[in-house]
Amino acid sequence: MEGRVAVLASGTGTNLQALLEDAVVGPRVVLVVSDRPDAPALARARERRVETVVLPPSDVAGRDAHDDAIVETLRRHGIDVVVLAGYMRILGPGVVHAYRDRIVNVHPALLPAFPGATAIDDALAYGARVTGVTVHLVDEEVDHGPILAQEAVPIADDDTVATLTARIHDVEHRLLPTVTAALLQGRVRVAGRRARLTGSRAALGGVA
Ligand code: GRF
Repeated sequence: MEGRVAVLASGTGTNLQALLEDAVVGPRVVLVVSDRPDAPALARARERRVETVVLPPSDVAGRDAHDDAIVETLRRHGIDVVVLAGYMRILGPGVVHAYRDRIVNVHPALLPAFPGATAIDDALAYGARVTGVTVHLVDEEVDHGPILAQEAVPIADDDTVATLTARIHDVEHRLLPTVTAALLQGRVRVAGRRARLTGSRAALGGVA
């Protein structure tokens, strides 16, 4: 797969940072898009001299128009792969169609458990003993597309949202760049809901 990557981020951008620091993915991140002008993720991009575009939904009339603006921006920058790294809006069908099987999302739970924007709090409040991280392709439904990778994170008796979030983030920062590299290296096979990663990035000249 051609390798120009855009990262969409709304918040702190620690996952963006992990992507930027990855030997395979980092050099290919050419654009960071945010819906929020104050997102700290934008500063991380600028520090690395990666171009940034801010697309506040309030600037356009409705979700379809916002999706159109996203697709237009991605096309203008010749983007091949899109990574959602803490992007807190739902992408509409316009974006999903334009980048079918080329949009990756990281979710802080083991889907299909605990979908939605408060997955870490929800797992803790539910009393789950294990939660984790899912990296998946994005389809028309929220937190639903084919799963590319999952890793479990046990919940300790004395965990708080803060301590659990920190351990989940550590896993995200490893898993998201690994899976994104696989996608860029053409090592992802998708058959219906079932996806698998083939080979290893080391075998293809990447850095493990
Ligand atoms: C991550 O926990 C990710 O799973 C969720 O949003 C959070 C983003 O964190 N979708 P950051 O902005 O990358 O630090």
